[in-house]
Amino acid sequence: MTTSVTESRITVEPQSGWTGALISGVDLSKPLSEEAVARIREALLTWKVVFFRDQDLDHAGQIAFGKQFGEVTPGHPYEGDAAPPGFPEIHTVSPEAYDQRYGVAYRKKQGANGPGWHADVTPLINPPSHSILRAEVVPPYGGDTQFSNVAAAYDGLSAPLRRFIDGLRAEHRFGSSFSAERSKEKIGELVRSSPLASVHPVVRVHPESGERVIYVNPSFTREIVDLSPRESRHILDLLFEEVARPEYTVRFKWEPGSVAFWDNRAVLHLAPKDVEHLGHDRVLHRITLVGDVPVGVDGEESQSLAGERFGAA
Ligand code: SIN
Repeated sequence: MTTSVTESRITVEPQSGWTGALISGVDLSKPLSEEAVARIREALLTWKVVFFRDQDLDHAGQIAFGKQFGEVTPGHPYEGDAAPPGFPEIHTVSPEAYDQRYGVAYRKKQGANGPGWHADVTPLINPPSHSILRAEVVPPYGGDTQFSNVAAAYDGLSAPLRRFIDGLRAEHRFGSSFSAERSKEKIGELVRSSPLASVHPVVRVHPESGERVIYVNPSFTREIVDLSPRESRHILDLLFEEVARPEYTVRFKWEPGSVAFWDNRAVLHLAPKDVEHLGHDRVLHRITLVGDVPVGVDGEESQSLAGERFGAA
């Protein structure tokens, strides 16, 4: 890393009406100028996820890029020995890495490459603020990642419904979507011996923009704690449908060297389930930035049920 980029070349090109912008004219393998960091931060606040093409990053370069935006966490609370040697911050996304981390049955139950719509590791008391995902090997077709703007989804609700959910809290628990507690696989041992769970506001106030966002997701949110189980299921189903509405989403097609950088406090993402049957390889590497404790509309912070704060690697 030697010279700064020339920030005047940076362009920000929106990719859909609500979500995602392609940033060009910046070389992420070099230290960024203050202005370049500010432009990327501004685009993230507006578009929730930004994309870069043709970047020449290795693990060290990806971590160095991330450190210009915050502290980098370990790859995952359940990373175990699946991180590449010497890079505990790297969480590799591939069928092989998931099998090594959680056991084969986990992937078979979840479908290819992990769970449904989610923000990263929301069962933590301080879920990662941002994630940076870099493509190494991509299939010739299929394998796209989708993102959905949950601030826009909140704004799209009727005022009475917004007022109703503003005061609710929900439990997020790792493994809740597939009964991991009963699993005989590695994932079962992990969640039984080191459970991860928190109660977060259903509507989170974004710490930088002040926007209200729908902060539940079908992968990790188990129930709304203030409601009866039946009421909780119906309200969660309604919110899960709202956050997945096509108008709030963007679909990103990976190329080798592509990078997606998203704000987990403002966007959900959906890993693809359309590639594994094709037999093509797909290998991406993710890092995450240390996040803050969510705060609800009433100013109250989330509460931890199990698990520690997730700090820097
Ligand atoms: C992830 O959930 O971070 C992985 C997304 C993907 O595989 O596209």
